[in-house]
Amino acid sequence: MKLKSVFQNHKTGPIPVWMMRQAGRHLPEYREIRKKNPSFMSLCYNPEIACEITLQPVRRYGFDAAILFSDILVIPDALGQKVNFVEGKGIEINPVTSGSALARLDTHRILSHLQPVFETISRVRENLTSETALIGFCGAPWTVAVYMTGSHAVPHHMPIRSWSYNAPEDFSVLISLLVEASITYLDAQVKAGADVLQIFESWGNLLPQKEFERWCMEPIRKIISALKESHPDVPVIIFSRGIGYSFVKLASYCLPDGLSLDSSFPLDFARKHLQPHVVLQGNLDPVLLAVGGPFLDKAVDTLLDELGEGAFIFNLGHGILPQTPPEHVAHVVKKIRERSH
Ligand code: CP3
Repeated sequence: MKLKSVFQNHKTGPIPVWMMRQAGRHLPEYREIRKKNPSFMSLCYNPEIACEITLQPVRRYGFDAAILFSDILVIPDALGQKVNFVEGKGIEINPVTSGSALARLDTHRILSHLQPVFETISRVRENLTSETALIGFCGAPWTVAVYMTGSHAVPHHMPIRSWSYNAPEDFSVLISLLVEASITYLDAQVKAGADVLQIFESWGNLLPQKEFERWCMEPIRKIISALKESHPDVPVIIFSRGIGYSFVKLASYCLPDGLSLDSSFPLDFARKHLQPHVVLQGNLDPVLLAVGGPFLDKAVDTLLDELGEGAFIFNLGHGILPQTPPEHVAHVVKKIRERSH
């Protein structure tokens, strides 16, 4: 398995490629399924359809990894907080913003509620060749909490920011609960057949350093160390964006096997200071992938020149944009295959 061998050997070889949000709205075959299924969450809980959606980009592009089709918000949903994706409006969630509201969350339902997701994983694994890795995932506790508190849609993300400053002890109950839920969830994903795990910390950029350490780094460290005890051979990648040099601390404190860099991260620094210690993944600008043309080719070349000699997985700096023409994706995959085999 090309993608796993990058972690095992930590050296050069053919560069594996996959893309965040590869399963989703940029694919006509996904949009076709989505038209017939108005509820996004019910797609996540339908193993037959979720398996098909997971396989779509692998079939079309020959990626080296499939990523489970699901969402980071199945965790709040499993905890009993109703989550809805509303066309044209985005995410709707009944927010939790105080210690007393936490009593409404039921941590005992994680495994039973998410059974269909594990079933999807087993089905996908059965349908992939041994060459293709299956990536399981969850949101990091802070990022999931941003949505649980309804802060994603509020200026300055005030609900979560003010709760965590005003009542850190109460807020830490929510974070601890999410640490436990994430460990249970990821452990079950591995048992169902996930080969690699990725933790998405999409909102770590909101925090000053001390708060980043407390609400992002510490919880992620706990999740990774628990998983390493039961599954030492399953690589864990952390995705984070907009955190700059905090990536260095994140890597040395949380000990992930891989770091997924956002598009703004300087490649020369990454090569010199991160790549000797950890597998790097990233970080093509998803906007450039949507735009295409000669600058796209140039950026792919630069990325391969800078990071392609070390332990590297080609990916984007964030998810594929829905308006991305599939031909641009196919073109980039072809280019990488030509340069690295
Ligand atoms: O292909 C894949 O990457 C696998 C599936 C996946 C989805 N979401 C499917 C999805 C993964 C790994 C995610 C992660 C996710 N979800 C993150 C972390 C990564 C990141 O993008 O920062 C976050 C923050 C979410 C929360 C979320 N889910 C958002 C912000 C949205 C968009 C809301 C909107 O409608 O604008 C979603 C919806 C979502 N998740 C879609 C897909 C394919 C689109 C839903 C649709 O079909 O309408």
